[in-house]
Amino acid sequence: MAESRRQDGRGLLITFEGGDGAGKSTQIRFLARLLEGAGREVVCLREPGGTAVGEALRRVVLDPAHGAMSDRAELLIYEAARAQIVDEVIAPALARGAVVLCDRFFDSTVAYQGAGRGLDGAFIAAANRFACDGLVPDATILLVAPEEAVRSRMGRRGGADRLERAGDAFHGRVAEGFAALAAAEPERVRTVSSQLHRTDTFRAVLAELAPLLPEAAAALAADGDDPAALTELVAAVMEEKRRERERERKRAAQRDRRRSSGRGRQGGAGAPKGGRHPQGARGGKNAKGGKGSQGAKGSHGGKATPGSQKAKAPQGSQNAPGGPASRDGGRAAGAPASASGRDGAKGKGGRRG
Ligand SMILES: Nc1ncnc2c1ncn2[C@@H]1O[C@H](COP(=O)(O)OP(=O)(O)O)[C@@H](O)[C@H]1O
Ligand SMILES: [Mg+2]
Repeated sequence: MAESRRQDGRGLLITFEGGDGAGKSTQIRFLARLLEGAGREVVCLREPGGTAVGEALRRVVLDPAHGAMSDRAELLIYEAARAQIVDEVIAPALARGAVVLCDRFFDSTVAYQGAGRGLDGAFIAAANRFACDGLVPDATILLVAPEEAVRSRMGRRGGADRLERAGDAFHGRVAEGFAALAAAEPERVRTVSSQLHRTDTFRAVLAELAPLLPEAAAALAADGDDPAALTELVAAVMEEKRRERERERKRAAQRDRRRSSGRGRQGGAGAPKGGRHPQGARGGKNAKGGKGSQGAKGSHGGKATPGSQKAKAPQGSQNAPGGPASRDGGRAAGAPASASGRDGAKGKGGRRG
């Protein structure tokens, strides 16, 4: 199964894994920008979602009325949404030759539903294969950062995170699950520290992908001559992100104003409470607003945590120099000089899932 899929596809499937706040979305944006600048078609996805069926399944997983959903049911919903996005979006994109960047994929199910929740690992492996019709990422970047670093990032993010409330023991098991995956499939799953400054993390990501992606190799070579280029790319993406957040903040404020004036008229009932957005209120699909909109964090962690919409693929982005408007500081103290900590043990290649 796997082989035929792989041979059909001329593109590349690259997945990003790791806990919430590890830096997946951020690094995906950087990579998407770089690849688009080099003229590649890039498709950015987060699952579940990205298809009509996936969005519908996502609403099922989200619905507070479904709080009694069993862990097994939850697992199967994720797999169903995955099957749909593989058939409807990923496989065709790969056939076109696109680079597909996926924010979480089946490894998250192994880590969260398997290691985290304790569901049967052999069944999960089989379900993943079935859902993906044998498709396996060409490379998986596992981003890891120490607990404290992540905690402070998540704090800045604002809003309570259901996953955080899942407890340290749960998170410990998930982290161990990811580490075990990296040890079992060192060829495919590459561990990259995101404790470094985000630009250095990006360099480490590029180094891992260089054998697969000539654009990554070229960017690193150019970076050797002129490090400003990558720094500027990162600054441009961060500035864009900042503007998006600002727009989202304004939209939220507007909603709040509307809500309270509605309450004034209707005596307090009416307006929907936060968390779930009624159809059409903000658009299930392609709602901009980036991270945190619709609380779409931790799609694999908690019950009834939302999945996500199709991630915004930075469109038409060039390397957009024009100066590092917001050169982001904050190199983590004590960050190791070497970014990539690939797990030693060579094991079987992971082409077959
Ligand atoms: N090395 C790094 N790589 C990626 N993000 C980083 C890094 N250092 C700090 N950050 C910040 O941490 C946060 C990570 O958030 P995000 O990329 O949304 O994580 P995730 O998608 O894994 O939940 C962002 O605010 C980002 O700017
Ligand atoms: Mg994210």
